[in-house]
Formats: sequence, C-alpha cells, structure tokens
Amino acid sequence: MLEKIAHIKQEFSSDLAQANDAQALENLRIKYLARKGSIAALFYELKSVSPEEKPALGKALNELRTFAQSAYDDAKLKLEQSSDSTELPFDVTLPGRPVSVGTKHPITQTIEEIVRIFKGMGFTVATGPEVETDYYNFGALNFPPDHPARDMQDTFFIAKDILLRTHTSPVQIRYMEQHKPPVRVVIPGRVYRNEAVSARSHVLFHQVEGLYVDEGVTMGDLKGTLVAFVKQFYGSSVKYKFRPTFFPFTEPSADMYISCFICNGKGCSMCKYAGWLEILGSGMVHPHLYENVGYDTEKYTGFAFGMGVERIAILRHGIDDIRLFTENDLRFLKQF
Ligand code: DAH
Repeated sequence: MLEKIAHIKQEFSSDLAQANDAQALENLRIKYLARKGSIAALFYELKSVSPEEKPALGKALNELRTFAQSAYDDAKLKLEQSSDSTELPFDVTLPGRPVSVGTKHPITQTIEEIVRIFKGMGFTVATGPEVETDYYNFGALNFPPDHPARDMQDTFFIAKDILLRTHTSPVQIRYMEQHKPPVRVVIPGRVYRNEAVSARSHVLFHQVEGLYVDEGVTMGDLKGTLVAFVKQFYGSSVKYKFRPTFFPFTEPSADMYISCFICNGKGCSMCKYAGWLEILGSGMVHPHLYENVGYDTEKYTGFAFGMGVERIAILRHGIDDIRLFTENDLRFLKQF
C-alpha cells in the first residue's frame, strides 16, 4: 500500500504539472480529492490493513492528502490571479476622456489684451475701490459742485458723498496722490451707472483708464500712444480720427474714432451708418487735477484716456446685447 501511495503522489504531481486551465484543475480535483477520488479510495482500503501497519500507512496517507490539497489550492489561486491580469476590466489602449477646460470671460479677455498692449509701451497696472467718495469720483476730477457735468453720469449714491464709482478716473487721483511723476499707468475695473438696463446700456460695466504724466508730455504723445494702441488692437490698416469734446478733467479733450471694421467705413448698423466708431475719450490732464494731488503744474503735463470694455468687446465680436455679459449663459460664454 505504501507503494500505491507513492505512485498516486507521482501521478498527481505529473497531472498537476499539465493542468493549466480551470477545467483541467477541476478534473484533477475530481480524480484525486473528491469524495470518490483515488485518495478517498485509499482511505477506504486503510480500514482493512492489519493494526500493526495502520499507523504508518495512515500517516503517509494523511501526508498525501494534505500535500495534494495544498498543491491543488495553490495552483487554483495562481490560475485565478493570472486570469485577473489578462482579462482587465478596462482597455488601457483606449484614448483618454477629454477634460473640458473653461475659458476666460470675454470681458476678462478683452481687458487682458488691452493691458498687454499698454504694458508693451511701458505702462504698469493699478486698481482702486469701486465704492468711492464724491471727492474722488467728481470733486478732485474738476467737476464743480452742482455742475451739470455730473448729470452726464447717473450715479448710484450709497450715502451722502459715498457712491459707486461711475468711471475709473478717480483712480487717477488716488494714484497721483501716492506716486510722483513720471506716472504711466492703466487702470482696469468695474464701474456703475444708474441707468435702465437694456440691450445697449447696463448698470454695471468695465473701463480701462490710462494716465501718463511727466515733464514735457504733449498732445503728440497722446496721439502717438493711442494710435499705436488701436493699430495693435484692431490691425495696422485701421483708420482713425480725433474729434474735440469736453471732459471736466482734461483740457483739451478728444474722442477717438476708428473706421468701422464691419463695413470698412461704408456705413452699417454697427456704426449707425456713420462709418466711424467712437472707441475712447481722452485729453490733456487738467492742471486743477495736479493742484489737487500736489504736483507742480509748471513742471508736469500729461494725458489721460478712458475706454469702455463692453463696447470694445461688443464691436469686436458683433454682440447685440450687453446683458449677455452678466447672464452667465454658457451657450454665450463657450463661444470665446
Ligand atoms: N471717465 C470718462 C467716462 O467715463 C472717460 C474718460 C474720458 C476718461 C477722457 C479719461 C479721459 O481719462 O481723459 O466717460
């Protein structure tokens, strides 16, 4: 019987070596380890051996069973693990899912481009508060008290003398109070006007202000700087003109126009059939502003300008309703 045990062990080992799929392993288990398998049959035979032989044979048989069971268990585990790694639940060769990236708001994009161009001409960037005093928004900018010029800008008052700034020009004063000339700065920011909201006007919009003060700054510098700007922003073939106007804080003052890039100056609904688009206000800084900030009015001259960002973006992209900028409609925003 010992020989039989040795023989079955050998047979089992060689069967196991060849069992390399799940079905073969299962056949192996049935042949040796199941209730009617050959090892169980040997245990059955054990009953009829002599009492002297029993202990040694029983021990050998038990060893065979333990050996076969653990060899089978190991082989089964190995097979399961290897099949796990060949049948992955996903296909690593598939292209990845695209990550959707947001875009900057068209107003932010427009401001960034304007600022980039002025930075290239040596301007730095400054900002100021949106809640202002009457002094910075009007008084220091040479709007006399009760002067009708204040009516040009419908104002949201928060308290007496406290208001939401109606333009970025107050930051000119704040900046000059803090810095001695030469001053070369652009000031982007939000402004507020107490107006009925419509497709053409809004209570909230953005401006970019500019200020350049130094010894010997002339109207020629104003013109050269703004022409350089519009050529970079609208393309070098753009036509432009300046037209006299009035602002309390500049003297002389000029509005800048460019030829309508939609109709090329022929006249269309965008330029209201004028062929020209007004794009900014500008002028030589009024000496009263220098007096208000303690600059020497004999020594320094300078120019300032201000442009509406929504207006520029509207013209550029052919947008027909200013309210779209503040509605957070992704169908609109995704186009930029
Ligand atoms: N602050 C003016 C406005 O809101 C725009 C402006 C015009 C600003 C002329 C300037 C300037 O600095 O020189 O209508």
